[in-house]
Amino acid sequence: MLTQLKVSLKARTRTKYSILLENGVLSNWQSWLSIHCPDKQIVIITDKIVENLYAYSFSKKLTNNGYNVLLLSIKPGEESKVQKTKEYLELEMLKAKFGRNTLLIAFGGGIVGDLAGFVAATYMRGIRYIQLPTTLLSMIDSSVGGKTAINTPYGKNMIGVIYQPSLVVMDLSLLNSLSKVLIVNGLIEALKIFLTLDNKSFTYARLNINKLIEREPHSLKSVIARAVKLKVKVVRIDEFEENLRMILNFGHTIAHALEKLSNYHILHGYAVALGILVEAKISQLMGFLSSENYDLISRVFYSIGISKEMLSAFNADEVVSIAKGDKKNHSGKIFFILLKDIGEVYTKNDRVATPVDEKYILQAFNSLL
Ligand SMILES: NC(=O)c1ccc[n+]([C@@H]2O[C@H](COP(=O)([O-])OP(=O)(O)OC[C@H]3O[C@@H](n4cnc5c(N)ncnc54)[C@H](O)[C@@H]3O)[C@@H](O)[C@H]2O)c1
Repeated sequence: MLTQLKVSLKARTRTKYSILLENGVLSNWQSWLSIHCPDKQIVIITDKIVENLYAYSFSKKLTNNGYNVLLLSIKPGEESKVQKTKEYLELEMLKAKFGRNTLLIAFGGGIVGDLAGFVAATYMRGIRYIQLPTTLLSMIDSSVGGKTAINTPYGKNMIGVIYQPSLVVMDLSLLNSLSKVLIVNGLIEALKIFLTLDNKSFTYARLNINKLIEREPHSLKSVIARAVKLKVKVVRIDEFEENLRMILNFGHTIAHALEKLSNYHILHGYAVALGILVEAKISQLMGFLSSENYDLISRVFYSIGISKEMLSAFNADEVVSIAKGDKKNHSGKIFFILLKDIGEVYTKNDRVATPVDEKYILQAFNSLL
C-alpha cells in the first residue's frame, strides 16, 4: 500500500533585502557590514581588474578592522563563468576553512555577480551574500533579482539557481573607471526594461541619452533607480520566472545565440541590443508593433553606436538553430518576448512569451542586414 506523508515547511528563502544606491556608499562600509556580517568572516569574489581598482584596497581595510578576509580573484570574461571556476572558488573557501557563518561579497560586474551568487547558493547548502556591482549593467540588471548561473558548452546561463542576496550595494562612484563602451553596454539593459514596461522611462532615457553616456550623475542615478524599481516589481510578482519575469528576456533569445556564436567575445549588452532590433522587427512583421515605433526604437540604438553591420558577422540559420535551445522554448517551438507598444509586451491568454515561426526570424534578421 502506498504511504503518503505530507511535508510542509516554512520557506527559508530571504524575501526582503535592501538596495543601497548612492555615490560613495562603499566608503561607508562599516554601517552596512556590521549588520550583515557580525562574525567578521568574509570571502570577497572579484575579478583581476576590479581587484586592482577597488577590491584589494577594500579587503585591506576590512583586515585592518579585524575581519577575517579571503580575497579570490578570477580572470575577467565569460570564459570564467563556468563550472571549473566555481569549483576552484569553493575549494579555496573550504581550504581556508570558511564556515556557514561566512558572508560572501560578489564584488564586480555581472560575471562575478552570477558566478559568486551561485557559489553562495550552494556553499555548505547556502550562505549569505552581498551583491556589490561595479558595472552599469550589473547595477541596472544583474545584481537584483537573485538569478545566478554559469555557462556550459550547450548554452549560456544553463546551470544556476535563483538565490536572493542579503543586500545590494551600488556605489555610483565606481562607474567612473568604466569605459564608454561599458556604459553603453549597461544602458542597453535599461532600455530593454523600459521598452517592455515603461514608456515614460524609455522617453526619459531617449531624451537624455547623451547625458547618460557622459555619465551625468543625476540622469544616471535616475535611470538606475527607475530600472531597478521596475525589475523589483516584476521579481516580486514572479520570482521563479513562471511567466511575467520572462519579459526581462526581451532581446535575449537572439542575444544568447549571438554570444555563443561569437564565442562570448561580443559584450552581453551589445548582443542584447542586436537581439532587441531583431525581436522588435519580428514584433513588427507579425503585426503587433507599429513601424513608427520600430523606427523610434532602432534610432535610439543606432544613436548609441549599435549598427546593422554588427549583425552581418552572423549567419541567420545558425542563430535560429541555437535559438531552438533557448530556456523559454517548449513543444518544439521557439518562444520570444514581443512588443505591442513601447513599454508594453504582446500577450496572449496572459502569457508573455509567444511562439514564432522560423520564417519571421529569418525575415527579421535578413531585413536588418
Ligand atoms: N543575473 C542576472 O539577472 C543577469 C542580468 C543581466 C546580465 N547578466 C549577466 O551579466 C554578465 C555581464 O555583466 P557585465 O557586463 O557587468 O560584464 P563583466 O562582469 O564582464 O564586466 C565587464 C568588464 O568590466 C570590468 N569592470 C567591472 N567593473 C569595472 C569598473 N568599475 N571599472 C572598470 N572596469 C570594470 C570587468 O573586469 C570586465 O572586464 C553576463 O554574463 C550576463 O549573462 C545577468
